[in-house]
Amino acid sequence: MSYKTAAEIFSQISGIYDRFLSLITFGGIHSWQKDLIEDMGKEGNWLDVGTGTGEVLAKLGESYEGLRVGLDPAEGMLRKAKGKCRSCGFVLGVAESLPFKEETFSKISLSLVFRHLEDQRSFLKEARRVLKEEGKIGIIDVGRFGGTGVLLFLMKTLLRPFGLLIFGKEKWEFFIRSIEESLPVEEVKRILKEEGFEVLKVRRRMFGTVFIMTAKRTA
Ligand SMILES: C[S@@+](CC[C@H](N)C(=O)[O-])C[C@H]1O[C@@H](n2cnc3c(N)ncnc32)[C@H](O)[C@@H]1O
Repeated sequence: MSYKTAAEIFSQISGIYDRFLSLITFGGIHSWQKDLIEDMGKEGNWLDVGTGTGEVLAKLGESYEGLRVGLDPAEGMLRKAKGKCRSCGFVLGVAESLPFKEETFSKISLSLVFRHLEDQRSFLKEARRVLKEEGKIGIIDVGRFGGTGVLLFLMKTLLRPFGLLIFGKEKWEFFIRSIEESLPVEEVKRILKEEGFEVLKVRRRMFGTVFIMTAKRTA
């Protein structure tokens, strides 16, 4: 998906984003992000890619000892993030071209971002470059599973009037497309392995629709 489209849409909805996400995940997003942080381990310089409103960095806490850096192409989202975490650094940019030196970070997280990326393999190459040896990557995302077809059907029929009312046609279709582009968990694992990561743990949430995956950079 083009990052320009994504940046435009996320900037436009930045004002309602946090409330909307809590609502559609029944508040689950907060515990998933805490699980991700627990699995990745709370230490070292931390980069949150597609940081949005900066929730993952905020959850690391003010007492976090390493650097906390968030990157996102959506200016509107970054403005919200800056208000939430004053001691974090925020950078306007894209996952596929990370503006950092080799081996800068110990951790890279992506919460609900991986399926939005324009080029997942280019991002993983960049992640390998900016991660320290044995550095970890953590991904929360919606995976493609048996029920995805039902969800898409509902989004295109029963839920459509609500989606159009709240977001308008362009944004609602963007959300549908982003679900259509989600990958099965096994496929994400395969891509990670092929790009030089060893998958350490996978947790599933929301009846298996959401996965929380951690992987380590191999030598
Ligand atoms: C669903 S939001 C997730 C925000 C936040 N991580 C969270 O969990 O609430 C997806 C975010 O990914 C960003 N994004 C889209 N394409 C991107 C890319 N190519 N590189 C980095 N971020 C991207 C969007 O601007 C948006 O803020």
